[in-house]
Amino acid sequence: MDNRSWYPLALLPLLLLLCLGSIHTGSAASVTTGTPDGSELWGYVEVRLKAHLFWWYYKSPQRTSTPGKPWPTVLWLEGGPGTSGVGLGNFLEVGPLDVNLKPRNSTWLQKADLIFVDNPVGVGYSYVEDDSLLVTTDWQQAADATMLLKALVKEVPTLQGSPLFLVAESYGGKYAATLGASVARAIRTGDLKITLGGVALGDSWISPEDFTLAYALLLLSVSRLDDNAGDDAKKTLWGRGLSSEQRRGQPLLASATSLWSPRTRAEEHGRDEPQFATAAQGRGESGEQAAGTESMPRVAVATEQADAVKAQIAAGQWATAQGSWNDLLNFVGSKSGDVDVYNFMLDSGMDLVSTDSTTGSSSTSLQAMKYSSYLGGQDSGSNTIDGIMNGVVKQKLKIIPKDIKWQEMSQAVYNALVNDFMKPRIDEASPQIDELLTYGVNVTVYNGQLDVICSTVGAEAWVQKLKWNGLKSFLSLPRQPLYCGTSKGTKAFVRSYKNLHFYWILGAGHFVPADQPCIALSMISSITQSPAKTSCILGEGMELVIKRSDVLGEGDI
Ligand SMILES: *[C@@H]1O[C@H](CO)[C@@H](O)[C@H](O)[C@H]1NC(C)=O
Ligand SMILES: *[C@@H]1O[C@H](CO)[C@@H](O)[C@H](O)[C@H]1NC(C)=O
Repeated sequence: MDNRSWYPLALLPLLLLLCLGSIHTGSAASVTTGTPDGSELWGYVEVRLKAHLFWWYYKSPQRTSTPGKPWPTVLWLEGGPGTSGVGLGNFLEVGPLDVNLKPRNSTWLQKADLIFVDNPVGVGYSYVEDDSLLVTTDWQQAADATMLLKALVKEVPTLQGSPLFLVAESYGGKYAATLGASVARAIRTGDLKITLGGVALGDSWISPEDFTLAYALLLLSVSRLDDNAGDDAKKTLWGRGLSSEQRRGQPLLASATSLWSPRTRAEEHGRDEPQFATAAQGRGESGEQAAGTESMPRVAVATEQADAVKAQIAAGQWATAQGSWNDLLNFVGSKSGDVDVYNFMLDSGMDLVSTDSTTGSSSTSLQAMKYSSYLGGQDSGSNTIDGIMNGVVKQKLKIIPKDIKWQEMSQAVYNALVNDFMKPRIDEASPQIDELLTYGVNVTVYNGQLDVICSTVGAEAWVQKLKWNGLKSFLSLPRQPLYCGTSKGTKAFVRSYKNLHFYWILGAGHFVPADQPCIALSMISSITQSPAKTSCILGEGMELVIKRSDVLGEGDI
């Protein structure tokens, strides 16, 4: 372990000057420290001048490794953008300790070494010395994180012989896509000496359009929206300045959605404003029984708003599209009994921000705030994530600059990515998922059944748009049911073809490992081909995945 001392910020310019005089691989502002036994390492890497990424590595106590079965490493990429993986992913989802600093019996550390990072710079304990250094694109994030990995190969002794898995959640999936491509390229050119084991995209924001178009039908089909007329929401519809040319150029609806919310467009009736048929009219029933033309089926309003988002994405109006998307979620909240967009079985616990969709742009941070409150709601006992990250954890780590206040969510980081937020990673301009598949990198998509914001139907929709030549075979294959522990209920399905894998995780919302820890642990074991023994510390075969035939063969387990 490389124990360098850390210098107060005031000394940095001097140290940098000194460093420029000699060729050093690390910059003076990078620092690595850790526990005496080397089971934990953490530090800062100055990925650009005055831009510092914080990382935290845990070596697994279960670590075994044979040449044929190397021990894997998972790099966890949290979403937001702007939320802290070192805090949330670590203490609320998959790390060795929970928020009460008690051992987590489902920790992924049983299967892999873990690296958490407050990514990109400005998140959590990471920081920039000037806000102009925050990343404004996913690619800048990828460049910074690639710099981090180049440094970690030197700082973390186990990393070179260990296949690295980029495992993402939510917006982290966009990081994983670009970082995965960046890492794969750097490996190919010999600039980075690691093995990329795979990329795993959990409820990941890979194609904003496909997720947006799915909201209405999904919530209708699970009874969180209804198809009745009578909303006054029309006035909010075109508040985002979509031109009538743009409206005219758009197809009516995603085909599945139109089954449920038939309505006609203003243009087809030669009117200036969009008008909507009721569901009854659309089904060919008597129009007399339908509500008046001033009213719209709720789901039609939501669908219309989704179409607006789609048109704005197509027009490259990224910031506007993000605003419209926020309006849509606010509208959906207001008509759904305030559904929790991370789990449709729940209500949102967050009343801080008005759900009045007429307020428009004031709500850009709404989703980010709800994001962290959902996980924060899992706190029990006396500790809060904010309390430990600014208290005992900071004290343990020692190297966090005094003026850094850890926050679950950095609003500045979120805002800085406004022009990339709605950009997909599957289109011609940025086909990173296809690029990874074509390189032969294992790509896993995993999705919680109850998620709304990055729903499973949305994920299926973007997967179907891939250009990868194995897609047809992939789609034609049956799924395999998966089970966990002693429970006989189906916990998940998986489908694999060549290097594409898709896990449907039942009973989980957006935060899969927090909601379904047993099957999530099984899944990460499979994804990483972990050589860990299945019995280990859990008892009851908690992480065991078995096929139905095994259950039938063995009776009760
Ligand atoms: C991809 O994953 C499978 C297991 O699912 C494994 O057998 C294969 O070796 C992996 N391929 C690469 C290139 O890592
Ligand atoms: C793990 O912890 C959860 C929640 O604390 C508990 O319900 C479960 O039974 C535990 N599993 C094992 C195998 O100890």
